[in-house]
Order: sequence, then structure tokens, then C-alpha cells
Amino acid sequence: MSSPAVELLDIHKSFSRVKANDGVNLAVARGEIHALVGENGAGKSTLMKILYGLYAPDRGEIRIDGKPARFRGPADALRAGLGMVHQHFMLVRPFTVVENMLLGREGVPPVLPMDRVAASREIRDLSGRYALDVEPGAVVEDLPVGVQQRAEILRVLLHGASILIFDEPTAVLTPQEATDFFRVLGGLRDQGKTILLITHKLDEVMQVADRVTVMRAGRVVGERAVRDTSPAELARLMVGRDVALGRVEGEAPAGAPVLEVRSLGVRDSRRIARVNSVSFQVRAGEIVGIAGVEGNGQTELVEAIAGLREVEAGTIHMDGRDVTGSRVAQRQRSGLVHVPEDRQRRGLVLEMSLAENLLLGRQRESEFSGRVLLRAEPILRMARRLSEEFDVRPRDVSLKTRDFSGGNQQKIVVARELGRAPRLIVASQPTRGVDIGAIEFIHARLREARDQGVAVLLVSADLREVMSLSDRILVMYGGRVVGEVPGRDAREDRLGTLMLGGAA
Ligand SMILES: Nc1ncnc2c1ncn2[C@@H]1O[C@H](COP(=O)(O)OP(=O)(O)OP(=O)(O)O)[C@@H](O)[C@H]1O
Ligand SMILES: [Mg+2]
Repeated sequence: MSSPAVELLDIHKSFSRVKANDGVNLAVARGEIHALVGENGAGKSTLMKILYGLYAPDRGEIRIDGKPARFRGPADALRAGLGMVHQHFMLVRPFTVVENMLLGREGVPPVLPMDRVAASREIRDLSGRYALDVEPGAVVEDLPVGVQQRAEILRVLLHGASILIFDEPTAVLTPQEATDFFRVLGGLRDQGKTILLITHKLDEVMQVADRVTVMRAGRVVGERAVRDTSPAELARLMVGRDVALGRVEGEAPAGAPVLEVRSLGVRDSRRIARVNSVSFQVRAGEIVGIAGVEGNGQTELVEAIAGLREVEAGTIHMDGRDVTGSRVAQRQRSGLVHVPEDRQRRGLVLEMSLAENLLLGRQRESEFSGRVLLRAEPILRMARRLSEEFDVRPRDVSLKTRDFSGGNQQKIVVARELGRAPRLIVASQPTRGVDIGAIEFIHARLREARDQGVAVLLVSADLREVMSLSDRILVMYGGRVVGEVPGRDAREDRLGTLMLGGAA
């Protein structure tokens, strides 16, 4: 038998008090799609960063095609045929695709000859071979996320990578883009590439992977051939219990309108109209879900309601009061909380600690502010209570938020916002990047808030999330609400048709 393409032997890695990898063994055969799953903070990203040379292991060995390898950085890893597609893409946004390919990065020399024509030809060749539809002359920031990701894949292929590592590649993709991405993955495997794929979506594992490894608390707790396992078994291995993500109806009928949006018009930063005369209400005690293909005005709608974007036309009322022109702080005082879609850009201050991030926006509350200085004790008590309640790991309130795993960063944002006794919750992609145990918990908290009379506006690219939580579903298309469906009898195919602009 030939050696595995990748072998990790007894890998250990600690960060101060946290043992992120605690004796991990993993073998991946050539030409295999190998999924890596596990709870938030289990050590998946750390393991892949060690493999890619971004971190040095404290102990342990890496073998590529049976030969011991020691990478001092990504440049070394790339020379050995390893490429990593990061979740926060590394492309230079104002440059074209071909210019990005001509640039060196992360200490890696440029891949292509400094000749645009030859470079464009090479990009087209590779695009064709792997069905990676990318226009070499396009400017990166004008491209949809799915295409930017294809450009990233092209970049590592141009470097000659035969082993590709993906860390939650579909977290930022629309369902349609994810389908395209899986087709690309299948093509890469068919051409003999080896693929390592971190994901929280177990149906993706079942759909595309050949084998799957489950990690928990820094260790491997199981490995299976995908055809011999099920999502239920994987979930049990991951979180140690059964997980249920079904629908639960509200306890009481909805009450008076809390949020009322009338004939709203909003433009994006380039002054393009994104929301066109949208009207709807969210009443106390109901969850209203917004379904739609990303980029149909949901982001701008939510930003306008949260007070982060100027309103062009129409009005926004909260509890009957006009807040159309009010500042964010004013809306917060009226009981608005907002879980933003991009936790790293809008949700967190990465250089600040967990406790400081949980305090954001509440510094002036009498509980936390003394006459001159902030009061440390109550702040720490609040931070400990919230991180306990929302299971933020590790429970270290002084750790900078940048040092938490992706899913735990998301839990911090959700804890801060939901921990605030709101009247109105505006939640965008509230479970992006969190493990299934945490999804179940966040869903339960949103339903609990609803049952206590809070109004909830939910925006999610995950149609099943919208369907399992919402009492009513509004479908957005081209900046308008094109349909409304009761959540109880929503069907995926009908919503899908509306989302693509078709009649119901
Ligand atoms: N640079 C760092 N400094 C301190 N601790 C870190 C650092 N990087 C990771 N950790 C810790 O190591 C542990 C494993 O983190 P890692 O990012 O590997 O988890 P993960 O399995 O990828 O989780 P997620 O699913 O949330 O992305 C976490 O407890 C995290 O806080
Ligand atoms: Mg991770």
C-alpha cells in the first residue's frame, strides 16, 4: 500500500493554559476528501495551521507522502505541495485576479511569470480544467464571494498544490455557491488532489467527503468512512449527546408591533438602491425570518434598522416611536440589540479582551461605571456569568477575542447582544461558524426570547434555519419583499422559487 498523502503523528500544541492539540493522529490518503469536524474550540483550525506551517507544533511529526516534513512557514508548505484556502480571503481587493496571482504573499514568491498575457492564459487553462469559472481581468472586490473563493483556489493550484486545506469554506457562501463549490471539489479529487475540509455542516460531510475525523477537546475521538456513519452519529461523537434542530411553535399569539418599517428605501455605499419600498412589522412575541439569496438587500435593510446606514426614503418605528434618524445608542436604549453578520468587522474588537467586548455599548450603565473609572468587579462578574451561560470556551475573560476560535467569537457576540434584556432582536446569520450544540442553544434562546414577548427579526442564508425558527417568513428579491409565507407550512421548494424571483 502506498503511504498516505498526509500523516500527522502525535501532534501537541498549547497556547498558555489551553491545550489546543493534545496528541492528534490523522492520516489522509491521496485523492481523498477528508472532513474534519468537532465542537468550537476542539482544535481543528490549529491542527491545519500546524500542517500548513503557520504554527510550529510543540511536539509531533508531519509526513507528506511518507516523508517527514518540517515547515517553517507557508512558503515551505507550498513547496511541498500544500495549499490552504483561508476563510478570510487573502486577496488584495482593489487588484484584478491576474494581478493577485502575480503578487507574492505570506513570504511566498510570485507564481506566474511577470507577463500579463501569459498569466491570463495560464489562469484560463486552469479555470477550464477544474471548472473554476474566474475572469482573470476582473477586480476582486467586484466579485461575489463564491468567485473570490475560486480565485483563491486558483492561486494555490498555480503554486502547484496537490494537497488543499479548506477551513469552513461554505460558511460565507450562499447555498447555490456552495453547490458550485462542491462540484469544484469533486473535480479536484477526480484529478488526484487530496483535500482536507473543516466544516460544521454534517450534511456537507455526508454529501462530499470520503472519510471524516471527529475532534473533541484537542483529541481525535473518532474516524469513519462516510458511508458507514450518519449525521446523528457524528453529532453524538462531537458533542457527546443527541442534538435536535426541529421546529417548536410559539407559546402565545403575537402582540403589538414592536418594529414597523414603512416604504423603506436604502442605498449602499456606492449609492446604488438596495432596498426599495419595503414595508413590514415584527410584533412582540414573534420571529420574522427574512429569506433570500444574499445580496438582495438584506444587509442594507438590517443596517438601516440597526442605525448603521442612512435611510433614503420611508420610516422606521420602534414601539410606535419614529427612530428613522436616531443614533445607534438611542435605538439601543429603546431595547434594540443587533447580531451583525460579520463578527470580525462589526461584532468584535479583536484586540480587546472577552470582558471588554461583552461590555461594549454598556460602559455608561450605572452598574458598571463609577464616578471616574469603570468598576472592575461587576464587569468581571457579568463577563463570567455570560461566558458560562453561553458556553464560551475557554472561560478566560481576560483573553483577547482574537485568540478565541471562530465559533467561540460568534458565541461572544451573541452572548453580549442576547444577554441584554432586549425588546427587539435583529439577528443576522446568528449561528454562522458555531457547532451544532451551540446552534441548538442559540435557537433555544431566540425562541425563549420570543415566548417572553421579544420581537425577533432573523436574517439567515441558511433556509433551514429560517424555516425552523420563523413564525412568518418574508422573501426578499431585488430589494423588495416579494412574498410572505407562514413559517409553519413553509416549503423549501416554494421559498426557493420566490427567492429566485419567481411567482409562488
Ligand atoms: N493564538 C492563540 N492564542 C491563544 N489561544 C489560541 C490561539 N489560537 C487558538 N487558541 C485556542 O486553541 C483552542 C483551539 O482553537 P481552534 O481555533 O483550533 O478551534 P476550532 O476547532 O477551529 O474551533 P471553531 O470550530 O470554533 O473554529 C481554542 O481554545 C482557542 O481559544
Ligand atoms: Mg476554526
